[in-house]
Amino acid sequence: MRWNMELINRALSFAEEFFSADFSGHDYYHTERVYKLARRIAEREHCDKELVLLAAILHDVDDRKLVEADHEPYVNAKRFLKGEGVSSERIEAICHIISQVSFKGSDSVAPDTIEGMIVQDADRLDAIGAIGIARTFAYGGSHHSPMYDPKDAPQYGMDEKAYFAHRSSSVNHFYEKLLLLKDMINTEAGKRIAEERHRYMEDFLKQFFAEWNGEA
Ligand code: ADP
Ligand code: NI
Repeated sequence: MRWNMELINRALSFAEEFFSADFSGHDYYHTERVYKLARRIAEREHCDKELVLLAAILHDVDDRKLVEADHEPYVNAKRFLKGEGVSSERIEAICHIISQVSFKGSDSVAPDTIEGMIVQDADRLDAIGAIGIARTFAYGGSHHSPMYDPKDAPQYGMDEKAYFAHRSSSVNHFYEKLLLLKDMINTEAGKRIAEERHRYMEDFLKQFFAEWNGEA
């Protein structure tokens, strides 16, 4: 099925406008990168590409950090899609994909549609590699977390509640989330990208600790 490129472009403009005031690592360029990765992985899979692209573009506009908890679920994504005349069946499908994207420690879900698997992979790939390293320290800085605290050990096996309540140093975040993502990727194309980005983070941490200890 061909997708409506004008609709996709209007979704990108909507997201750009939406995130124009955010500097917490949830900026528009995260959305743009997730869109590009999702498009790249979708080329390799049998899927409804328009659903993939719209869900990728809209996956963070209702993020818990940006929207009040008592809002109607997916209010921003729905408002945009309704305004574009997208059918309620397709709006539900897009919201379902978005609902399965996020990392929640041991409560993370494996999406039950190929479109969901692709969008989840794309979002996770943007949390690892060179971009992932940069986002992690940017997030840590904006939340006044230390970049590393040798007295504070990483916590393993956190469930959703523990994960979201936990405050960690940026280096601990690698052990609590980023290094786990490689084995949680759904698609073959995603796995190949994840392996290379994972290796890059391992090299970074090796060098970081060598410098920390005055050994490099
Ligand atoms: P996503 O868009 O991937 O769902 P999140 O909203 O979970 O991302 O977080 C935004 C970015 O900040 C991600 O790159 C994530 O890995 C990073 N991040 C989340 N929590 C922490 C933390 N405690 N310390 C450092 N970085 C974090
Ligand atoms: Ni995201």
